[in-house]
Amino acid sequence: MQSLLFEGSAWVDEIQIFPRISFTMQAGSWTCMLGPSGVGKTTILRLIAGLESEIVLDGRIELKEGGRLTGQISLMSQTDNLLPWLNATENVVLGNRLRGEKPNYDKANALIEKVGLTDHRKKKPYALSGGQRQRVALARTLMEERPIVLLDEPFSALDARVRAEMQELAAQHLQGKTILLVTHDPAEAARLGESILVLSMNGVKDVCPPEGAIIRAYDEHTVLACQGQLLRLLRAEA
Ligand SMILES: Nc1ncnc2c1ncn2[C@@H]1O[C@H](COP(=O)(O)OP(=O)(O)OP(=O)(O)O)[C@@H](O)[C@H]1O
Ligand SMILES: [Mg+2]
Repeated sequence: MQSLLFEGSAWVDEIQIFPRISFTMQAGSWTCMLGPSGVGKTTILRLIAGLESEIVLDGRIELKEGGRLTGQISLMSQTDNLLPWLNATENVVLGNRLRGEKPNYDKANALIEKVGLTDHRKKKPYALSGGQRQRVALARTLMEERPIVLLDEPFSALDARVRAEMQELAAQHLQGKTILLVTHDPAEAARLGESILVLSMNGVKDVCPPEGAIIRAYDEHTVLACQGQLLRLLRAEA
């Protein structure tokens, strides 16, 4: 298990996307990041995943204990990125196929059941609702075994009941991994964050998470208080 350090500012064509920031994703724990739209959260995830070609980081992204990042990271992106010509099941086993492995249909079907899509597994993305597509993308991410997982608003399209269930599923399946979750939902950060970061044009603020192990009950008074504190901070930083 490795901690990941992110330090630097991001630029595109001489324009600064965000100022110099520094944060650490602690090994084996959930870091939640909030912040206004356009502040650079997706850019940070894409930089960590090594996917950014136009935006340049003036800084460093490294494992604290050393070693290479290649092959260590999986990313669930903000858009579901499902392949339109594959059905839900085939989208879930895509990682297997891309690596030239035999698709693990047992694991895929078990995950499809857990995300509540067994009856929809033969459908292609165009025939799925937004929330169903997002759950296919979540199942595809949970198929991966990589130690560092980046989740870009993974529950944003889900109704409140399913969102709570999927948070619990992700917490259970990703136990022990090093996670960075981007969310606009203070309640989600208060339930899942073992570190909570608020990004703004002024930099990054570390907010003390509620006491207790994750995943926390959404109606615990410390969780509700943290949720309120985060909303207040987000409004003040705007
Ligand atoms: N390839 C690019 N070229 C120019 N500007 C870009 C590029 N990619 C992102 N940006 C800009 O960088 C800024 C940060 O974008 P980013 O997608 O990281 O925001 P975000 O915090 O994830 O927002 P949201 O909460 O809406 O998803 C935005 O102003 C965006 O327009
Ligand atoms: Mg984004």
